[in-house]
Amino acid sequence: MNELSPLPAAALFDAFTYKDGVLHAEGVDLTRIADAAGTPCWVYSHGALESRYRAFDAAFAGIPHLVCYALKANSNQAVIRTFADLGAGADIVSEGELRRALAAGVPPERIVFAGVGKTAIEMAVALDAGILQFNVESEQELERLSAVATGLGRTASVALRVNPDVDAGTHAKITTGTAENKFGIEIDQARAVARRTAELPGLRLSGIAMHIGSQLTSVEPYRAAFGRLVGFARMLMSEDGHKLERLDFGGGLGVHYQHAPPVDLAAYAAAAREALAGFPGTVVLEPGRWMVADAGILLARVQYVKRGSLKTFVILDAAMNDLIRPALYDAWHPVRPVAEPKPGAVPETVDVVGPICESSDVIAVGRAMPPVAQGELVAIGVAGAYGAVMGSTYNSRPLAPEVMVKDGAFSVVRARPSYEELIASDRLAPWQIHRP
Ligand code: LLP
Repeated sequence: MNELSPLPAAALFDAFTYKDGVLHAEGVDLTRIADAAGTPCWVYSHGALESRYRAFDAAFAGIPHLVCYALKANSNQAVIRTFADLGAGADIVSEGELRRALAAGVPPERIVFAGVGKTAIEMAVALDAGILQFNVESEQELERLSAVATGLGRTASVALRVNPDVDAGTHAKITTGTAENKFGIEIDQARAVARRTAELPGLRLSGIAMHIGSQLTSVEPYRAAFGRLVGFARMLMSEDGHKLERLDFGGGLGVHYQHAPPVDLAAYAAAAREALAGFPGTVVLEPGRWMVADAGILLARVQYVKRGSLKTFVILDAAMNDLIRPALYDAWHPVRPVAEPKPGAVPETVDVVGPICESSDVIAVGRAMPPVAQGELVAIGVAGAYGAVMGSTYNSRPLAPEVMVKDGAFSVVRARPSYEELIASDRLAPWQIHRP
């Protein structure tokens, strides 16, 4: 019996494939979706989401575990509901995410609340909802939580987020587990904070948590951090008498964008299993990106192909306000024409850009791709994570709609706002309202 379920990435459901010369999403021709929803628009595969969740969950078979999907990666109700239906919990970082998780049907006892800056109101709302645990990141936060919980006559279950001081070896903007980051309590100070948690009213120390960064493609930093965290937890239990029910290993599993292969799920789960050996409680996991990245694309239409003396620009109707990752992190996303390139099509090196008035409005720079013409559709891949959720209305561009596809059918799961809606919440100041 191989209980590690070593599913290679290739065994996961591949939702976006060419069929009859056109890129399809789960059997639906993407040109049909573009006609119905307009472009730019996000397209998610229900089957790919399910396949990801199932593979992740299966990798932890045999260990008591709770998969708390990190909503920040993609918080559309239809996405959260897909995971909730499979038994997932949620990792939230704000009252808005709490409300989204509850509205999508995630049971409160499967919700963990992370983040360095929880307000007293957010704490109160989460306590009222009856969430599983607060991942606390500082002593001040601990004191505030104690005061809020006591005021409400409740007990907050606390997992201390410890900073294991392990370099995740990922992009500087998404690494979190070293002493240089704002996240977590330094492991050397955490013992005293644990003692304080036990003393403060309205709190129960139920676990220890960590999250060392995002888009990790090597298991080694995890192995080191898991070992440190479990060692620390064992010491708290055996020497200080704390009763810990849970260890929260955070998220961060990397996916395949360009060069680095995705993290090896089986090896990741094996590292967790090894570190946990004999730990009597439940392990909480907070994957975000790994669950949704490959399940989504951004569909866009080529507006112009502009040939300069040095460069050719493919100008899309999608922009950095839709997908900010290339501008913010120099992220690489695959770009494919929706019409299947003819065999032997000679690739052309182009910059794929948006219409926004900034040079940083790029989707792909210096990319060799089959030639595309004005009016053609393109799909920007591996865009299901940190895509729509990081969108803005910069340049007064309405947020792109989201579409979910399942078994040959599709549904708009977030509509494109109208221009009236875009402007509606602005108000003139009283002194600007001129009466006739
Ligand atoms: N848990 C905590 C406490 C986190 O801070 C994060 C992500 C996760 C879980 C989920 O991590 P994941 O499995 O998705 O790597 N916007 C960036 C990524 C920021 C990640 C922030 N924290 C990007 O587009 O790459």
